[in-house]
Amino acid sequence: SNTIIIAIDGYSGCGKSSTAKAVASRLGYAYIDTGAMYRAVTLYFYRHKVDHLSKGQVRKALTSILLEFKFDEATKSSHIYLNGENIESLIRQMHISERVSQVSTIAEVRHFLVAQQRLMGTKKGIVMDGRDIGTVVFPQAELKVFMTAQVPVRALRRQKELEGLGQQVKLSEIINNLEKRDLIDSTRQESPLRKAEDAIEIDTTDLEFEEQVKKVLELMKEPQ
Ligand code: C5P
Repeated sequence: SNTIIIAIDGYSGCGKSSTAKAVASRLGYAYIDTGAMYRAVTLYFYRHKVDHLSKGQVRKALTSILLEFKFDEATKSSHIYLNGENIESLIRQMHISERVSQVSTIAEVRHFLVAQQRLMGTKKGIVMDGRDIGTVVFPQAELKVFMTAQVPVRALRRQKELEGLGQQVKLSEIINNLEKRDLIDSTRQESPLRKAEDAIEIDTTDLEFEEQVKKVLELMKEPQ
């Protein structure tokens, strides 16, 4: 078949999700936001006071977590469900952003989610964004993009996104969170964030949204 897997990785707030979503919708591909999956596990751990240093507690918690993506007609985008509850906007809250990178360092959590992500790609025709898609989840992906952008630009975009959810957060707080997450994400033992050797880098600092989408679609047409 002529459908492929597109892996989009990069730092927090570079426009991965919005770009991936638009690319998928134009191609008629499925879109999977893997960050939402790590955020969902983080929300569950927070609610059930799971001690992430206890392997026993982590393993037990993971057996009680069912994640699903369902298409939301109103917003024309997919929403994540945790054990049947739509948690799409809950997981964008700042207190989850502050905890997610720590939870994402846990090997058991990563293995649990990576297995599910690989299943979602068996039929190809998928755009997946995250930190380890091109390196670990789909090293065989036909197109790998690594997105970067300067911190102030990323922080402003994140602030606007939070405003859209009704959350007023100071720019300094957002910058602090982005930098902390980038550091934890790129230095952890288990599948750290790094650019795959065969990934194509797109710096979105000076790009309009539509330009980002076009760049990825253009890369698809080039022989990799
Ligand atoms: O993409 P988003 O910013 O929502 O991701 C939230 C966090 O989830 C990241 O900062 C990272 O700690 C973790 N993550 C990950 N691997 C992925 C996707 C997200 O470790 N594939």
